Amino acid sequence: MSEERLLVVEDESDQRRLLAELLVAERFVVAEAATLAEARAELERSPVDLVISDWKLPDGDGGALLAEVRERHPDTAFVMVTAYGTIARAVEAIRAGADDYLAKPFERPALLLAIDRTLERRRLKRENRRLVAEIGERDRLVDLIGRSPAMRRLYDRVERLAPTNATILLTGESGTGKELAARALHQLSRRRERPFVAVNCAAIPEGLVESEFFGVERGAYTGADRARAGHFEAADGGTLFLDEVGELPLAVQPKLLRALQEARVSRVGSNRETVVDLRVVAATNRDLAAEVAAGRFRQDLYYRLHVVPLELPPLRERREDLPLLVEHFTARAARRHGLAAPRFPATVLRRFLEYGWPGNVRELSNVVERLVLLADGGRVAEEDLPAELRGQLADSVAAGAFRLSPTGLRWEEHERSVLEQALALAHGNRARAARLVDLPYKAFLYRLEKHALAPHGELPETEAES
Ligand SMILES: Nc1ncnc2c1ncn2[C@@H]1O[C@H](COP(=O)(O)OP(=O)(O)OP(=O)(O)O)[C@@H](O)[C@H]1O
Ligand SMILES: [Mg+2]
Repeated sequence: MSEERLLVVEDESDQRRLLAELLVAERFVVAEAATLAEARAELERSPVDLVISDWKLPDGDGGALLAEVRERHPDTAFVMVTAYGTIARAVEAIRAGADDYLAKPFERPALLLAIDRTLERRRLKRENRRLVAEIGERDRLVDLIGRSPAMRRLYDRVERLAPTNATILLTGESGTGKELAARALHQLSRRRERPFVAVNCAAIPEGLVESEFFGVERGAYTGADRARAGHFEAADGGTLFLDEVGELPLAVQPKLLRALQEARVSRVGSNRETVVDLRVVAATNRDLAAEVAAGRFRQDLYYRLHVVPLELPPLRERREDLPLLVEHFTARAARRHGLAAPRFPATVLRRFLEYGWPGNVRELSNVVERLVLLADGGRVAEEDLPAELRGQLADSVAAGAFRLSPTGLRWEEHERSVLEQALALAHGNRARAARLVDLPYKAFLYRLEKHALAPHGELPETEAES
């Protein structure tokens, strides 16, 4: 028995009646509104679980109603109804916070599915909020860790989008957690019991892309001695994760687009088509729009993938998450290697906070693992930090942290200054200075000589002085 109260907003009275009757038959409590003003009044009168609103209304549009509902009744779910052929509006509505959309004309099963899905999600959300309220501020979503505002915003969006079938494009620098986010989208969807198929588009040789994606029929070419399903079929009912999608060869992009659009594939060497039901999540650390502009990525495929973009923030923009992440990776490395979790002295944590983390969370997890392995006597030592994390000099020039200003710089002077500072920080110890700037010892000495910072007679040296 459903107690849920639905509000149908539609100015066409026949359509509204029809819809209301259908929903009443499904045992929903139904309120009706013909205008924006009536909808507002209904929403104020008593709580509404779900609004189903037409886009076109006599005194405004569904977008305005959606904005008000999101603002004043955040717990109320919203399904936008749009006219046939106005899919852009539906996308806009989803971006503006609608839970789902229906394109007119829709049929009963599609309507009930949308309602069911939306209400189910709302229940999950409420349950999740209850749990969060119990355990305090939430600091993770599935395997994603972090409690910074940027991560919390991401969690909200992932949660909202996960149960939909919307194609999601995950962007963000290397190591920011795009794959984890893709898995979270799958885990939080109804598809979670079905396969999650991750395909690294950069790793498939151009000639094999088609057979990898769509499968092959037996005897399709020499060597195809048995029929094999491709990734599309393997992901049927589940999620297809197209990782590094920006690396996909231009020549195969139209075929992929076609398969995505029609949700049908035929194996190489066969003309029988198989219908697949899948949700696509793509990821890239390239600027796909720029790739399109440069002619390396097809615009139509870009639009198909770019329906809902989600950006993973770089670690340097959420430094407040560092302590939590360090704790997590320390415990994990200790468990993994059967060691006790060491303590991190404040000096090391300060280095962490100052560093730019160009490799993001992946880099952090590797650094922490290394420190755990090297820790002696339950304490992490500053000397065990990798070169790029040691010394202020390293902080300022580490990749990703150093920014060339528009006025440029004089290379030779800059290099000389870096060398001098490295020597000073290392108290004249050249081997240590070389490590500070991450150069092989010989290469470092060569540069010292070039800048006349080392007297000729002294070269070459051995590493003995370290
Ligand atoms: N927010 C996070 N919480 C916990 N672990 C994370 C987080 N982000 C990334 N990681 C870890 O960092 C590593 C890299 O993450 P992932 O593979 O998802 O990155 P990516 O964005 O796909 O990078 P690339 O573009 O290089 O493929 C993984 O080991 C992952 O577990
Ligand atoms: Mg990845």
